[in-house]
Amino acid sequence: MRINRLSEALGAEVTGVDVAALDTKTFETIHTAFLEHQLLVFRGQSLAPDNLVAFSARFGPIETRPDRPFTLEGVPEVSVLSNRRVKGEPVGIISAGDFWHTDLSFGEIPSRATFLHALEVAEEGGDTEWSNMYRAYETLPEATKSRIEGLKGVHVFDRRKNPRIQVHDQFREKADAVYGLPIPDAVHPIVRTHAHTGRKSLFVSPRFVVGIDGMEDDEAQPLLDELFEHQIRPEFRYRHKWRQGDLLMWDNSCLIHIGLGGIEPPGIRHMHRSMVLGDRPC
Ligand code: SIN
Repeated sequence: MRINRLSEALGAEVTGVDVAALDTKTFETIHTAFLEHQLLVFRGQSLAPDNLVAFSARFGPIETRPDRPFTLEGVPEVSVLSNRRVKGEPVGIISAGDFWHTDLSFGEIPSRATFLHALEVAEEGGDTEWSNMYRAYETLPEATKSRIEGLKGVHVFDRRKNPRIQVHDQFREKADAVYGLPIPDAVHPIVRTHAHTGRKSLFVSPRFVVGIDGMEDDEAQPLLDELFEHQIRPEFRYRHKWRQGDLLMWDNSCLIHIGLGGIEPPGIRHMHRSMVLGDRPC
């Protein structure tokens, strides 16, 4: 197995390993690399959905939600992300991740890690980009660090309650069913400490954070705008051009990400995704 750094900002490529057949020692090496690089790219993986779930489960409890749209038949732990249509009907979520976000931050217990396996990739478009929130926090001006110390962001799942983003056409007609779920808003520290590394990171994103707990909007919104602009500085970012068979896993406690879309027809991008839960941010 070889592990090579992918960029200055974050990420490493892992080759020479089959994640469906890991011994304990190799798993430990991968876990250490994951904590060091925040994102791992495993090339050439051919994984059945059950194997994807089994690998993911080594990192934490699998997240499932019965009302999640486009889960895989018989394997509800796996979501389908795809722009394929059969008889005009989408077979997966087309718009997953179309604004900078960290997965499941609207939950009391957000996702620790996300796993995305590329079954088909398009020649043009469909890249994903990540930004390193350790770096984002560490490079904030000292005055901003003091200002956000102890503050909490309000994370909201319902896109209709967030003026910074839109509901994608795919879900516009059924927005009540998709977004009107009884999911309570979550309140999490804007600066969190990583449960495994002890490092501090910025824990906000424009997709989910709509306000600051206990702060009026005329003060909170400009502060959030400042943080949202800072957190995607080019030097914090890594952009991935997918290859078929890539399995990526990333650390949601210290990264944000965005699906960049832009797939040129007739290109098909078809992915399987699983997620594991982490700890309560503190
Ligand atoms: C996601 O945000 O979970 C998916 C990102 C992508 O499809 O590139």
